[in-house]
Parts: sequence; C-alpha cells; structure tokens
Amino acid sequence: MLYHIVTYGCQMNVHESEKIAGMLEDLGYSPTDKREDADIIVFNTCAIREGAEDRAFGNIGALKQLKKQDRNKIIAVCGCMTQQKQVAEKIFKTFPFVDIVVGTHNLYLLEKLIKRKLNENKRILDYMESSPVIEGIPTKRTSGDNAWINIMYGCNNFCTYCIVPYVRGREMSRKKQDILDEIKEVIDTKCYKTITLLGQNVNSYGNDSKENGNFAELINDICKLDGDFKLTFMTSHPKDLSDELIEAIKNNDKVIKEIHLPVQSGSTKILKAMNRNYTREHYLDLIKKLRDAVPDIRITTDIIVGFPGETEQDFEDTCSLVKQVKYDGIFAFMYSKRSGTIAATMPNQVDESVKNYRVNYLLNLEKEIKAQKG
Ligand code: 5AD
Ligand code: SF4
Repeated sequence: MLYHIVTYGCQMNVHESEKIAGMLEDLGYSPTDKREDADIIVFNTCAIREGAEDRAFGNIGALKQLKKQDRNKIIAVCGCMTQQKQVAEKIFKTFPFVDIVVGTHNLYLLEKLIKRKLNENKRILDYMESSPVIEGIPTKRTSGDNAWINIMYGCNNFCTYCIVPYVRGREMSRKKQDILDEIKEVIDTKCYKTITLLGQNVNSYGNDSKENGNFAELINDICKLDGDFKLTFMTSHPKDLSDELIEAIKNNDKVIKEIHLPVQSGSTKILKAMNRNYTREHYLDLIKKLRDAVPDIRITTDIIVGFPGETEQDFEDTCSLVKQVKYDGIFAFMYSKRSGTIAATMPNQVDESVKNYRVNYLLNLEKEIKAQKG
C-alpha cells in the first residue's frame, strides 16, 4: 500500500507532512513519488495567500480523473484551508471524490479517520474548533539532515492581514521537557546536523505558562545537550526579540548565527495599520543590537507590499530600510486579502498592478544588494 503527500506553504506544514507520513507508515503504507500509484493521496494545504488556496483548489479538482481510474484510492485534504470551517465544507461539497477532510487541530486523528473510512466506506468531514498540545505523533523525518522541532503552536498577534491566528488558534507552548526529550532522541540517531525550532512566533515561547521558562532559556538548555549539532529557529517577531535572546545567540556555539526577522514594512504608519507593535526605528535598533553582538549574523526578512493604504512614500520607506539593513535574503509578497481579517475591510486597497511593480522592484533591490555584498 502506497501513499503520496502534496505539501503547500511554510516549514510548519512541511513538518506536519512528516507527521502525516509517520501516521501513514504506522498504518503500513510506504511512500511513492507518483500520485497515480498511490492508494492514499493527502493534500496538506496553506491559506496564507489567495494564490496558495487557488492552486490547491485547482490541483484537488484534477484528482477527479485519478479517482475515476481507481475508485478505491483514498483522497484526504487537511491543513490551514480545511481549518476554516466554511472552506472545509466547500471542499467537501465541491469535490465528491474527496474522502476525508480534516483540519489542523484534529490532524492527529488521521489514522483513526482512515481506518473508519476503510471500514465504513463513508466520506468524512471532521472539524475541531481547537485542541490541546498533542504529543507522541509518529514522525517520518524527510528533510535531509535537518530535523524540524515544533516548540509551540498558534499565534496571539493578530497582524491585521494574517489568517494564521484564526486557523491555528491561540499560542500554546509545548512542555520544555517534551521538547528536550524529542531533541535528545533526534541527536541520538546521529542522522541530523541541524535542529530547527519551529513556531509562528518562537520569541513568545513560554508566555502561556510560567513552568517552561522563556525562549532564551530554552535555547540555553538545548545547547547544554551533548552531541554534535547546530541549532536554529524560526520565526521571530521583532516586538518580542529580547536582549536575553540576543545573548543566547551570541554565547552558544551551537546556535547558527542567523535570524529570520520579518519587518513586513519600513513605514511606521503601515506597521501600525498592520498591528505589528513596533516602529521602523525600533526595528532598526534591533538590527543594530544584533550586529553589535554578533557582527557576522545573517539576517533575512519577509515584506508585504501593497498593504491597504500603502502610498509611494510608504513603499520608499520600505526600500530605504532594505538598503540600510542590507538583508541576506528577502521574501517579498504581494498583499493578499484574506476574508475574516481586519485588513480585508480596510479602504484604499492597492491595485494589483502597483503591487506587482513593487514586488519586482524589491526583488531587483535584493539582487543589487547581494551583488554588492559579493
Ligand atoms: N498577504 C501577503 N502576505 C502575507 N503574509 C501573511 N499574510 C499575508 C497576506 N495576507 C506573509 C507575511 C508573513 C509570511 C509568512 O507571509 O510576510 O511573514
Ligand atoms: Fe501572522 Fe503576525 Fe502571527 Fe506571524 S505574527 S503568524 S504574521 S499574525
């Protein structure tokens, strides 16, 4: 019996697909690269931008042919799209050949749902509003010598453009001991050189319960573990980047000297409208502090262009910040309206053609900076 997983979106989803693979292998399935050969196909979807959703819809639709050729093939759709109740229902209704639709909070039930489907041969739409942290899901690591380790789930920040807090729920940190145990297990296999800690906002690790300590303490404790490994993490929110964390990056040899620090915009006015809770000046201060402490640190960022109300001047502010920081990498995105978020209802939405121009301008700027840096 063979499985094939299609993954959209961020590292969190890549790692979640490793858990899906773990659960499927537990049931006796083996991986295949060819979806036409698979007995079960799982689509792990992303909802962050409209483009990702449209692509997933198109590609799920195309599975109809495969199902026609083999009626016993199981097709499952999960991930951030199906954690939005109305989208889950739409997928279930639009695509009668999809057998299982399951959200992110109940993904850990996948094994049970597949067994139920096999026994009862009925389509299943399983949705859960929220869930506690679930430990012990089998994981089949497939990311080379990098091991992803989730340290927390969800997000409390409600940046006005972002769907994540609505689909992933509030911040929940894993217990420190559970994280350390998982990392020890990974190190003991001697198969992994890098450990990458994952969370929507790793800097607020531990804020939801005192017993675990904060993120800097977690890093210090992980670095005390014996073994030959390097440690990195993503994503950091600038508003929560503490001096203690900068010290932890500086003082631990095992920590890779790099940080992904999304700025989103170089205009304080737009940052406020985005509800980012920092100013351009505060962000630039952080960059200075990081470089004072760790002069050769690699800094990468995310930027959104064409947020509602972004004027030519606001965009120039972003470009001047980019030139000043001289990033080692930029992920630039055109603002995408997500229904249910505050920004979707804001006036002064920016034309697609302007967004397109600005995103290309930024990509060229990034190329120039890279060429200058050599
Ligand atoms: N439109 C465009 N980009 C977005 N991001 C999050 N939400 C949106 C949206 N609605 C970007 C942010 C974030 C990255 C993961 O995706 O830059 O840091
Ligand atoms: Fe979205 Fe902001 Fe949370 Fe990041 S910090 S996941 S951009 S709401």
